Order: sequence, then structure tokens, then C-alpha cells
Amino acid sequence: MSSTSKEKLVIFDTTLRDGEQSPGASMTAEEKYEVALQLAKLNVDVIEAGFPISSVGDFESVRLIAREIKGPTICGLARAREGDIDRAWEAVQEAESPRIHTFIATSDIHMERKLKLSPEEVLESAVAAVRRARSYTDNVEFSPEDAVRTRFAFLVDVVKAVIDAGATTVNIPDTVGYALPWQFGRMISDLIERVNPPDGVVFSVHCHNDLGLATANSLAAVHAGARQVECTINGLGERAGNAALEEVVMAVRTRSGEFEVSTDLDTTQIISTSRLVQQVTGIRVQPNKAVVGVNAFAHEAGIHVHGVLADSSTYEIMDAQTVGLAESTIVLGKHSGMHAFRSKIEELGIDMDEADLVRAFHRFKTLADKKKHVSDEDVRTLAADEAHHVDKDAFQLEYLHVVGGAGIRPTATVQLVREGQVLSEARIGVGSVDAIYKTIAAMANVPHELIDYSVESVTGGTDALGAVTVKIGANRRVFSGRAANMDILEASARAYIHALNKVIYYVEHRGSE
Ligand code: KIV
Ligand code: ZN
Repeated sequence: MSSTSKEKLVIFDTTLRDGEQSPGASMTAEEKYEVALQLAKLNVDVIEAGFPISSVGDFESVRLIAREIKGPTICGLARAREGDIDRAWEAVQEAESPRIHTFIATSDIHMERKLKLSPEEVLESAVAAVRRARSYTDNVEFSPEDAVRTRFAFLVDVVKAVIDAGATTVNIPDTVGYALPWQFGRMISDLIERVNPPDGVVFSVHCHNDLGLATANSLAAVHAGARQVECTINGLGERAGNAALEEVVMAVRTRSGEFEVSTDLDTTQIISTSRLVQQVTGIRVQPNKAVVGVNAFAHEAGIHVHGVLADSSTYEIMDAQTVGLAESTIVLGKHSGMHAFRSKIEELGIDMDEADLVRAFHRFKTLADKKKHVSDEDVRTLAADEAHHVDKDAFQLEYLHVVGGAGIRPTATVQLVREGQVLSEARIGVGSVDAIYKTIAAMANVPHELIDYSVESVTGGTDALGAVTVKIGANRRVFSGRAANMDILEASARAYIHALNKVIYYVEHRGSE
């Protein structure tokens, strides 16, 4: 089928809502805005920007995205309750194209155990919610939560009723990741046949990955007639996550002969988007992750390398350039100036404001002085690192001195600045990082527990940038901090401060739910 006769597959990105529900993926409003900008560059159709009733901070970030981001539809999530729907509308109303997404659970187990409502009451709430949302906008999505474990006859009744009430998109979630591809595909085609929706109503799917089948289930549903897929960058999301946007989109593109649909995405933005989300959330994808893992286009075995050099399609089903892994044309070294650096940032598709760019350039010069070849990964890491350590951060690292070695008790002296005030402390630890963290914790006075600390080198060699990720628990949530530096002790300090600043931001903007 030629791409001109294909139907459109709507790509609904929920990285900022379901994705943000992954432990450790909490984002500040600025970070959410930055990701939303990149999603608009990727040309997704719908951005689910958050769950506005859930907190003041989430409301504000959805409203900011709705006001500022042009192109995609901006959607806010709401339970099937008046207050939720009113708040969602308040948050998205200024968008070029706003949408309200309302949901209520329809499976017996959820209705009986969680909602304590009868099926009749659930159906009534669903209809009332859609009507209320329709009083604000003609772009209304409804989801029967846990649809896959819902009695089919009841699901048909609910879907018919919400369409009659005005829902324009009906989303079928596999909330607990229980579906199998052939069953799910059959369920979607049976549902469409039984409901027989009027023109203009779109069937959507939202698959979780508990059995590793989210992408397969989403594609089976598209094959069966679904015309919207809800997905997240890097497959982030509750528990094992959601269907990964990059996998769904590249499957539809790479196996286009098997699908009656195509997407409008600019797939060359996939890598930049994936890297940005990794940087912002501190959640790295595994090296062998489909499409976006660092090994996704790497070849090791001699026989494969030989084949790829002769003709890349021997072992590559996708061209690396289609996902944005461009062949580098600009090589940076210690003689490169601002012009070359700026061009490299543009080549990599990174958006930076001038102040961040200048700071990243200075750090690049320091790095290039010490390191022969500065790789694209180094540049991406520096750029992201600068963009996330903005001046408004609560604490800034001013000074760090660490004494360590064999036979010495590791001691750290740290100076932090907060709102112009300089704080100094020193502490002994069981190791250098422990000493630094004890010192910072003593000054920050933010109740929390350290959950995880990891360091990885961005490229190989002892002169590589070290990227540190720290996860801390506070206010019953997990916050991650990340920083990169050639000195891993400095990166460790900055990553910890980054995570603590996120807790402070959260407490100040979201309350302590
Ligand atoms: O997984 C789910 O059921 C959801 C709904 C709110 C769509 O995230
Ligand atoms: Zn979900």
C-alpha cells in the first residue's frame, strides 16, 4: 500500500504523565517543558502533559505546556469526577488544540475492590464525565481502565454509552500488561465491530509492558483497526512501563507493507528525544534496547562487521540516520572554537539557550584540553548537564575539596551557595563519595534516604566524562539527580545536589502529598 493511501496513526505521547509515574522519573516544570518542546520537534500528535488535579506543580506544568507548545494537541488527565475535569480544563484551555482525557475502571476487580461501585454507577459516572468534558471542548478522550480484564459485554455497553455522550477518542488500556498480541488484536476488532462507531471516533490503545508485550500488543491492535497508540519515550511508565514510542513508530515505518497506517513523526528526532528523557529522568535504557540503546546499531562479530561494510542492509533493517544517528561531519578537538561547537550542537539537534550554550562551550574547552577527541556523546552529555543545572536551583556547588587515599580517613570539605548565602561544612566518611554526601546532607537539611548511586563512563578511557546518577527517596517519591564531569567526585557532588534540589522544588511546588 502506498503511503499516500494510508490512514494516519495518531501518536499520543504520555511520557510526561504515565512516564513520569515511573519511580525516579519525577520532573520539575522546567524539565517537563523541555521534554515537551522536544516532543513537538519529534512531531507527536498528542502530548499528555500531566494529571492536573494531582498537585499544584503538575497543574502548573500542564498549563505552561498548553500555553507555550505549538503543534501537538495538549491533553490533561482527569478521573471521572467533576473536580478533576474542571481542573484539567483549566490547565489545558489555552492550548492551540486542547484535549481532556477522562477515565474510570470497568473491570469487576477494580469496580468491586477499588471503587466500591456497581457497574451501573460506573457507567453513569463515565457518561457524566464525558458530558462534562464535552461542555468544555469537543476533543474528549475516554478510557475504561483495566479494559483487558473487563467483561466484554460490559465494555461494549460502556464504550457505546461514552460515544453517545460525545467521546471522540476511546482508549482501551491494558492497565496491568496482561494481554497477548493475538487476543488483544481480536478484542479490538470485535469491539470495533460491536460498537460500530460513527465517523470521526478514533479507537486507541494504551499497553503496559508487564510481560514485555506492550509494543507487540499495540501493533496487533493497530493491525486490528486502532488508529491511536499511547506510548512513552524509552518505554517509561508505571511498573514495567508502557509501549515504547520509538519501537511502535519504527515498526510501523520499517514494516510499512504490513500496516494500513503511517505516522507523521520526524523519526530523525528519536535519538535526541530518547537521550533527553534519559538525562532528565536519570533512567538509562539498557544498551541493547531496541532502536535507542547504544548497541542498537553497533556490530561486534567479525562476520557481521564484514557484511555491514559490504552492504549495511545485510544486518541492519533500519538506517541509523532515520532515527537521528547522523554520520558526524564535524569533529571537535582542542582547537575548535564557538562556531564549530555551535554547529555540532545544531548537527546533534540539541536546543539550548545562549547562556547554557556558552557555559557548555567553556566546559567543552576544558574537556578538549585534557582529552584528544571529544565525542558526540561527550557533547550531548555536557549540553544536557548544563541545561539541567540552571541558576534557579536551590543549592549550587561552590567549592569541593576531598582528601583520600590509602591509610587516610576520607574527608570532604564542601561549600554550597543558596540564595546568595554561603554554607561550609566538612565531614569524614567511609569513602570519598560517602564523605562528600555526608557533608552535603548535613548542610541541605532535606529529609531523605539515598536509594541508589551509580557512575558510568560516557566514552571509554580514564579521561572519559564520568556520568553519575543518584536516586533519593523523599516525600514517598523517588528523585533522581545526574551530573557529568571528568572528575567523578565533582560529578558525584553535583548529581546529589541536583537530586536534593528536585526534592526542594517538589516540596515548594507540589506540597508534600
Ligand atoms: O494504564 C492505564 O489504564 C492508564 C489510564 C489512565 C489510561 O494509564
Ligand atoms: Zn497507564
